[in-house]
Amino acid sequence: MALLASPEVLFQNYRRAPLAFRSGHGARLVDVEGKSYLDFLGGIATNVLGQGHPALVGAIKAQAERLLHISNLFTIPEQEEAGRWLIQGVLGTGAGGGVESPWQGPLRVFFCNSGTEANEAAIKLARRWGRAHGDRYEIVSTLGGFHGRTLGSLAATGTEAYRQPFEPLAPGFHFVPYNDLTALDAALNERTCAFLVEPIQGENGVIPSAPGYLEGAARLCRERGALLLFDEIQTGCGRTGQLYAFQHYGVAPDAMSLGKALGGGVPVGALVARAEIADVLRPGDHGTTFGGNPLAMAAVIAVQKTLQGESFLDDARQRAARLRTGLEGLVAQRVGASGVRGVGLLLALELAEGVASSALAERCFELGLLVNAVRPDALRLAPPLILSDAEVDEGVEILGRALRAVTGAPVPATAVTGSKA
Ligand SMILES: Cc1ncc(COP(=O)(O)O)c(C=O)c1O
Repeated sequence: MALLASPEVLFQNYRRAPLAFRSGHGARLVDVEGKSYLDFLGGIATNVLGQGHPALVGAIKAQAERLLHISNLFTIPEQEEAGRWLIQGVLGTGAGGGVESPWQGPLRVFFCNSGTEANEAAIKLARRWGRAHGDRYEIVSTLGGFHGRTLGSLAATGTEAYRQPFEPLAPGFHFVPYNDLTALDAALNERTCAFLVEPIQGENGVIPSAPGYLEGAARLCRERGALLLFDEIQTGCGRTGQLYAFQHYGVAPDAMSLGKALGGGVPVGALVARAEIADVLRPGDHGTTFGGNPLAMAAVIAVQKTLQGESFLDDARQRAARLRTGLEGLVAQRVGASGVRGVGLLLALELAEGVASSALAERCFELGLLVNAVRPDALRLAPPLILSDAEVDEGVEILGRALRAVTGAPVPATAVTGSKA
């Protein structure tokens, strides 16, 4: 890990590890020095199909040769096809849906280019809808929640450190503690147009919503006339073992923002909304040059076809169960991990007191495993959904070795030694 980032060229707005990658295949990456890594991070819950997936690469290649960009001044059939695939998955009418969806149609889709843009669209839609239904413009969201870095979604992001340097932000945003229905009850009023919430808080350290929370939130929103907006940018597209996290909880939102895994690594975002709400946005109200361009749509279609394919999510759920069992095994061994939280393949390994996630992540990198120190006391794991059983076991084994190296815990006689990197 000798690579140093040059401070001369790029903005210094990222905290980067001194690692650069040259290529990847499936759940494996190779750095510029030829060292191989197992990817348990997936580009932060983005590369759901791993690297070089033939369906995704083939679709992008073919589309690039045919037509790259055309603009929303024209009809884009690829956008409509991608929208149909998305809606079919959301409604649970596709082959790989897994569970009956609580969300009923008709729905509509707006395509943009990133997660934060999807939330911008959600905020603007909620405000436009709120103005059409009285004088509603306030948005309630959760402390610790993360919705993006543009000024609107930042205004809805409940982490002071992200917000404070850029104040004053847009007015009309309020925060409530996550998983606290009493606080939500008190925060909703006749000016509230929407409650924006992640079904599982991702950036806050993979904190699942408590049983009954989303249901209660849906009931309160209904009673008070506010929209319920789910940010599924991190939890969507199969990450949690269902196509969308809301399908685990049996609660349908009025609109849902998507990004990250939506294009399997190609930048794209989307807002899915109930048609009667979507239709308050009229021509000219909102738009983007690149949003829904044919190249990104080819990626969305390829990802959706794969995710909704026969047994794809069943396989991912099995990998997730195996990974959870492996991590729980580490917890039982008392080598520095104290618990596991999360759903499907969006997991956090909770660390025992005194074990710093940054030191552990660094040791994992050395041993050829990519993970993320999402909180000082927790590692986030969000591997590609296509990883194999053997890769799950290898990752757990490396994590065990890294924990032992950091904590000085004794190596059991049966432990496998020697890096496979
Ligand atoms: C829940 C959630 N919302 C929004 C965003 C912002 O997405 P993007 O980085 O694509 O703008 C993220 C990114 O981490 C996220 O996890």
